[in-house]
Amino acid sequence: MYVDQATHEQLQKWHQELSIQHDAFKANGLNLDLTRGKPSTSQLDLANMLDGALDGNYIADDGTDTRNYGGLLGLEGMRALAAEILGVNPKEVLVGGNSSLTLMYFNIFFAWQFGPNGLDSSGKSSAWKDEGTVKFLCPVPGYDRHFSICEEFGIEMINVAMDDNGPDMDQVESLIANEPSIKGIWCVPKYSNPTGCIYSEDTIERLAKLGNIASPNFRVFYDNAYAVHDLTEPAPELPNIMEYCRKHGTESSVLQFTSTSKVTFAGAGVAFMASSETNINTFKKHLGIASIGPDKVNQLRHLKVIKNLADLKSHMKKHAELLRPRFSCVLEHLKENFFESDLAEWNSPEGGYFISFDTRPGLASEVIRLSAEAGVKLTPAGATYPYGKDPEDKNIRLAPSFPSVEDINAAMAIFCNSVKLASVQQKLAE
Ligand SMILES: Cc1ncc(COP(=O)(O)O)c(C=O)c1O
Repeated sequence: MYVDQATHEQLQKWHQELSIQHDAFKANGLNLDLTRGKPSTSQLDLANMLDGALDGNYIADDGTDTRNYGGLLGLEGMRALAAEILGVNPKEVLVGGNSSLTLMYFNIFFAWQFGPNGLDSSGKSSAWKDEGTVKFLCPVPGYDRHFSICEEFGIEMINVAMDDNGPDMDQVESLIANEPSIKGIWCVPKYSNPTGCIYSEDTIERLAKLGNIASPNFRVFYDNAYAVHDLTEPAPELPNIMEYCRKHGTESSVLQFTSTSKVTFAGAGVAFMASSETNINTFKKHLGIASIGPDKVNQLRHLKVIKNLADLKSHMKKHAELLRPRFSCVLEHLKENFFESDLAEWNSPEGGYFISFDTRPGLASEVIRLSAEAGVKLTPAGATYPYGKDPEDKNIRLAPSFPSVEDINAAMAIFCNSVKLASVQQKLAE
């Protein structure tokens, strides 16, 4: 369907057919949901062996009685596992509670209150809160919860364009060089949420070098949430940012994060942060005021079932088997309906949790409204942009992990019809 080339009569005919179909969907009264970027029940079931894995033995290999207080940095075994995932030394890892998002939030909170480098020897801080305006670069479309953290602190967000290689690094470098108030950038380097892109080697090296052009209070928030969430084989490898940081002497400028939320249990996983030892110790000092120690019993039971990176990768293959048919279902609908059209663009990710879909400009809200009317809930328009404002009102994040393939199939039929109907309506109104 090419609306730009269609005659008025053709558009009217399509409009009539699509409206009849839309009304039929409405009459079916379905209640489907494509918003939830969370693991399905069968994915969670893959980790049920966590239950009882300790069998009464709570002592870790390093001698820690995991039931007791302490161990703010995490069990040695868990730090070693995270170091393998993130490509750092175990000493450069802190193992947190169940949420990497909380670690990101705390990093911003501590930087805001005390400065990202903590207090210097004379007790002076470089707290972000004392700097007047604080700005963050936000590659878009991106992850709404990153943006919510910035909003909570009143941190001004600047949109940065993304392409298949990651953020537009020319734009990033020139903004940072000219605006000392920019204190951070959000990055999801592998299977980016939602575009699915994998940052290129050049982008990663340039991110590692930002520490040399930015102020010492600047941090790259490198959220590698989908580090091992591959759908294809062989899985693409993400170049190691820490190696580039070592090459350029910027180890403290990058904060890496990941977690087992979408590996084991989303609500009872283990989260990790990696950076220079200096940063880890500064963070630990502040964290030690808020907590006496994390849930090490959970860390130990994770280590019992996932001992190393090889175990983790083979576990993730089972996730891929469950996720692949769901992604394929969405992609087949999109190909069938829009491959030969001027209505849409989308990505075919090799991993992660999302498919990013662009309508013709100005139509995302209307497509979402029409889909809801016909029984399919979609992520709100604008959610993938700072302040919930998609300047072109065109991006929609599709999240196929949670519903069954049958439900995705039904939801996609409604979604595709809504896209067509909204596009024809817009064209007719021109
Ligand atoms: C990019 C990204 N980061 C972080 C998270 C949340 O991670 P956690 O469960 O470890 O807090 C998500 C969850 O959807 C995500 O997509």
